[in-house]
Amino acid sequence: MSNRITHPPENASPSEAKGRRIRSFVTRAGRVTPAQQRALDEYAPLFCIPFSSSPPRFQNYFGQEADLIMEIGFGMGETTAQIAESIPDKNFLAVDVHSPGVGSLLKQIGERSLENVRIIQHDAVDVLTHMISPSSLYAAHLFFPDPWQKARHHKRRLIQPPFVQLLTSRIRSGGYVHCATDWEHYALQMLTVLEGEPFLENTSNGFTPRPHYRPETKYEKRGKRLGHSVWDLVFACR
Ligand SMILES: C[S@@+](CC[C@H](N)C(=O)[O-])C[C@H]1O[C@@H](n2cnc3c(N)ncnc32)[C@H](O)[C@@H]1O
Repeated sequence: MSNRITHPPENASPSEAKGRRIRSFVTRAGRVTPAQQRALDEYAPLFCIPFSSSPPRFQNYFGQEADLIMEIGFGMGETTAQIAESIPDKNFLAVDVHSPGVGSLLKQIGERSLENVRIIQHDAVDVLTHMISPSSLYAAHLFFPDPWQKARHHKRRLIQPPFVQLLTSRIRSGGYVHCATDWEHYALQMLTVLEGEPFLENTSNGFTPRPHYRPETKYEKRGKRLGHSVWDLVFACR
């Protein structure tokens, strides 16, 4: 991917100087609650798919053959669980890196008896690169990806041309990408980047009202309490 640093910039961090890919998340331990731990122990073997260096047969993991929607960065998973429950005839592949969130989503999968959600706990860039075959997804949801507000951190934002090119290559024609953010600078970047991808077409003239299937996310509610606006973008794949 072209956001891999090949020439260390001035003030490069040690990992950048070594040419490692810039990550869109920070690795933190995060406290797993006892309830999340119980869910991890009981449900991870049933609903988590291990990272692999080649595409698995996803249909073998899901109980039904259905369109596959990948959610990148599900946080604590409330939105994932609500959407999956309201759209039972689609399969949802939820990807995030943090254990408390994985435990939280597993708990909700158990409580709601959801059959159509599976989780991969791994960097979504690697998952897209290695585990998802071209044109095999129906859609991708990216709700409130980390905004990385400071200018010197903008390079950590997920929605950049190389990532969007990779993501779009994994979605079949007729599918879609749905992004949302409460950070205006990132919203404008998303609009520019998505409009610049030749295989995507905006379904609206600019931003779009929140689609009915997307409930308010935890992160979004916090943003609104701080007075932030919200921008949704839905692009169809050609
Ligand atoms: C700001 S939170 C938003 C969570 C949730 N979508 C919401 O709206 O409440 C962003 C999430 O994206 C995850 N994330 C960031 N980069 C990621 C990556 N490369 N792969 C998987 N998850 C990632 C973070 O761990 C975090 O849980």
